[in-house]
Amino acid sequence: MSSWKGIILAGGSGTRLAPLTTAISKQLLPVYDKPMIYYPLSTLLQIGIREVAIITTPDQQPLFKKLLSDGSQLGCHFEFFSQEKPAGLAEAFLITEEFIKGSPTCLILGDNIFYGNGLVDLAKEAMSSPAGATVFGYRVNDPERYGVVEFDKENRAVSIEEKPELPKSSYAIPGLYFYDEKVIQIAKSLTPSKRGELEITDVNKIYLAEGNLKVKVIERGVAWLDAGTFKSLLQAGSFIHAVQERQGLMVGSPEETAWTNKFINDEQLKKLAEPHNKNAYGRYLLNLVGKKDATH
Ligand code: DAU
Repeated sequence: MSSWKGIILAGGSGTRLAPLTTAISKQLLPVYDKPMIYYPLSTLLQIGIREVAIITTPDQQPLFKKLLSDGSQLGCHFEFFSQEKPAGLAEAFLITEEFIKGSPTCLILGDNIFYGNGLVDLAKEAMSSPAGATVFGYRVNDPERYGVVEFDKENRAVSIEEKPELPKSSYAIPGLYFYDEKVIQIAKSLTPSKRGELEITDVNKIYLAEGNLKVKVIERGVAWLDAGTFKSLLQAGSFIHAVQERQGLMVGSPEETAWTNKFINDEQLKKLAEPHNKNAYGRYLLNLVGKKDATH
């Protein structure tokens, strides 16, 4: 499983969140007490992916580098890539071709937030059989905002549509995708959609047509939030606040996840936490050391 590589797609124009995003990338905005990108990054680390390509707009790349460095502080390896224009999610595989070549790849969207251990189990299951592709289905109230998957009576995926006016099911496809190394060739074969983008839905349709797409339904105990509108950004922040307050445990801390997964040891965690020891985030990390039941 260790050969898996990750991509976080954190470019885009963020127009739906202007003026919040006029000067700064959406994925750097706060979701309660952390920058948004911490959440998808933590998800990748949680499922054991340590080599990560981070795609940003060219002008914001220095800010992402300042925030995340090269990953070695977390026992990981990060590489930064630029996307000149928001030409679609599937362009991620063309931009990172040299980085992901020869490896199965997990793509996660920089504004998608997942919470719950059920997802980690599903993701690890997907990673244990990397041939083809795995995507997920998640029941939502507003499927027309997303890629939508339709199932037959045997729960097999039969169709996938991007933002259909009349969705054939209530199952949206979240922004977490697992692909074998053929995804690069598939992405190269795509042509832009009506909205001018290389669509991830078209990649998934090709895997589906070839009989190589696995679609797993995410159980109701897992939360999936996207933070791409004012309302969903506020809801995501409130959700993270509520869970953290109740449990006294952080959601989406890459430092904690790296430590829990033993990518870094106690000393390394302390070194990361100490500069922040005057605030709740740093103190939380410092408290983890020596408290081995903290994250279970
Ligand atoms: O959130 C899941 C949905 O994401 C899926 O259900 C859809 O099938 C998929 O197409 C996508 O939907 P959106 O069209 O709403 O995605 P959006 O344009 O908001 O982009 C998602 C993230 O990717 C966002 O953080 C910005 C970033 N992005 C987007 C584009 C188009 C890039 O970095 N580059 C891009 O070219």
